[in-house]
Amino acid sequence: MTRQAFYPGSFDPATVGHIDIIARASRLFDRVIVGVGIHHGKPPLLSGAERIAIIDEELARLGLADRVRTVTFDGLAVDAARTQSATAIVRGLRDGSDFDYEMQMAGLNGVMAPDIETVFLAAAPGMRHLASSFIRQVAAMGGDVSPFVPSSAVIRLTQKFNN
Ligand code: PNS
Repeated sequence: MTRQAFYPGSFDPATVGHIDIIARASRLFDRVIVGVGIHHGKPPLLSGAERIAIIDEELARLGLADRVRTVTFDGLAVDAARTQSATAIVRGLRDGSDFDYEMQMAGLNGVMAPDIETVFLAAAPGMRHLASSFIRQVAAMGGDVSPFVPSSAVIRLTQKFNN
């Protein structure tokens, strides 16, 4: 049986922390499907296509493209996971506030979809400070985001704020 995991997120933009979680999940599961959430109430900086392209370019660079694919999704993560035939939802945990939020979400998702297990991966020690919202702020103010995001995101963020 092929074990597939669904990794949902906003990825606006994906950070090197997200990419690390994807790479590590790809060693635990036969296939990882990264779900880029399209939220109606949360207008993103980058379009769905841009967010997908950033992740895809980095996966290709890391040689992970055969084990991981990216999709957009709209609606519940558990529904998207089911559509993708995933039996697990992967989420990264950076700190205590992530833990509280993620436990609630995992609890609700577990009631809605008891057949889908949430699997938490602890963020790598050097990546616990990374948050897409802060990275957008740094980029908007002309700071160097290259330590925090894949190079494919640096280019897109620079273009976004220079135009
Ligand atoms: O990167 P984020 O912002 O932490 O990602 C949040 C995301 C997209 C994973 C989360 O908001 C989500 O799953 N949204 C879809 C709606 C849903 O399923 N909500 C959980 C019900 S409790």
